[in-house]
Amino acid sequence: MKYEEAETMLKKCAQDHVLAFWSKLSKDEKAALLSQIETIDPKSVKRCAQTLQNGSETPDSSKGKAPKVALLKGKALQEAVAVGEKELRQGKVAALLVAGGQGSRLGYDGPKGCYEIGPITNAPLFYFHARKILARSLRYGKSIPFYIMTSEMNDAATKKCFEDFNYFGLPKEDVFFFTQGMWPGMSKDGKILLDAPGHIFMSPDGHGGLLAALKRSGALADMKKRGIKSVFFFQVDNPLVEIADPAFIGYHVNEKSEYSLKLCAKRDPYEKVGVPMKFGEQYRMVEYSEMSKEQCERKDKSGKLYFLYGSPAIHVFDRAFLEREAAKAMPLHLAFKKIPSLDEKGKLVKPSEPNGYKFEKFIFDILPNAKKAAFLAFEQKEEFSPVKNAEGNDSPATCKADMQAKWRRWLEEAGVKVDAKLPVEIDPAYAVDASDILKNGICLGAE
Ligand code: UTP
Repeated sequence: MKYEEAETMLKKCAQDHVLAFWSKLSKDEKAALLSQIETIDPKSVKRCAQTLQNGSETPDSSKGKAPKVALLKGKALQEAVAVGEKELRQGKVAALLVAGGQGSRLGYDGPKGCYEIGPITNAPLFYFHARKILARSLRYGKSIPFYIMTSEMNDAATKKCFEDFNYFGLPKEDVFFFTQGMWPGMSKDGKILLDAPGHIFMSPDGHGGLLAALKRSGALADMKKRGIKSVFFFQVDNPLVEIADPAFIGYHVNEKSEYSLKLCAKRDPYEKVGVPMKFGEQYRMVEYSEMSKEQCERKDKSGKLYFLYGSPAIHVFDRAFLEREAAKAMPLHLAFKKIPSLDEKGKLVKPSEPNGYKFEKFIFDILPNAKKAAFLAFEQKEEFSPVKNAEGNDSPATCKADMQAKWRRWLEEAGVKVDAKLPVEIDPAYAVDASDILKNGICLGAE
């Protein structure tokens, strides 16, 4: 892009202040700024400024009803597993990981997936995800292609981690990295913020940026070429997730669903998780912050919470549904943050209070567009223990304890007694459940 083109484009969307320090920039800084401007879509800038004027729309959730949530047991569970296993044997299942987040609450300097979580080996979060995918693909004799969304900030470090660990045993050609988009930050009056005279402040466009990035990168086309039907979606911070779980895949296929969600009972009425609700014939994810105290505390006839189930962001999508949705624009959500930025004189100001907006898209905003959605309950202790915070709830300490408790349950089921004081770790490629331990036997090592 040339200077004149950048100037015309920026003027059209009332953002030409971005070039205010042009004459002071070096040749390299000028080139870098132009290539940053080139990534900006003027229509999106106008949309951001407009969203800022109108505010994020928060639809009324007071009329929402609790969805019907399936609990699979006995014969129904066996049937779902059989269908899911067939899909896996036919190579129709892909794994899709969103790992572009900044992990600011954890305060870890690097991609969260590189965070060392193995209680004995200190293996990173990526290890547990990749080895589970490897185990399932070995069990069913077909590869499960693994699509990983990164962001500009962590893409190189993520790829390096996979290289360093030799792709954790996965065939390299089955791992597909793609990068999500970035949005410029804006001041309260809708002006793009600069964090250096030749640099625009930009941040990742949220996990909903997934759809545009899947399309742009060719990942969606790759899935189609490989004959993928069901796409298992998960987040980087939960090493307990049962990736490509046959029961969930089978349930999704049996229900002819386009978007299926695993849900678990909330730990308390106010737990900070999204709650899917039914409005007429459509479903929508209602964020915890949108729910009134009455909604949170509402009980059903049996005395249980009426809105009992929350979403830990474990989904199965129909590939064709993702393709349809990738062609549409998604709603933008505003986050008011402290953004270090330049004043008119070009001096960097580090604000002590929020001063600007970041824009994010959320993947669950496509839920109302699904022709059919389905909801499956699971037990939190078995499949969900995220690493969000450095300490306290949902921290590395609670996650490691939950991982080990699960492995101990498997060992006990397989008739192995383990001293409760000893640390436990199982390579997912060795066992994805207790039945593998029975089949493969166990070798107890001493530290
Ligand atoms: P979170 O909402 O927990 O955000 O992301 P985060 O960035 O990991 O952590 P904080 O809020 O800064 O502490 C949930 C999932 O969505 C991904 C994350 O990598 C994580 O797997 N994500 C989030 C993206 O891929 N891109 C984004 O822009 C945001």
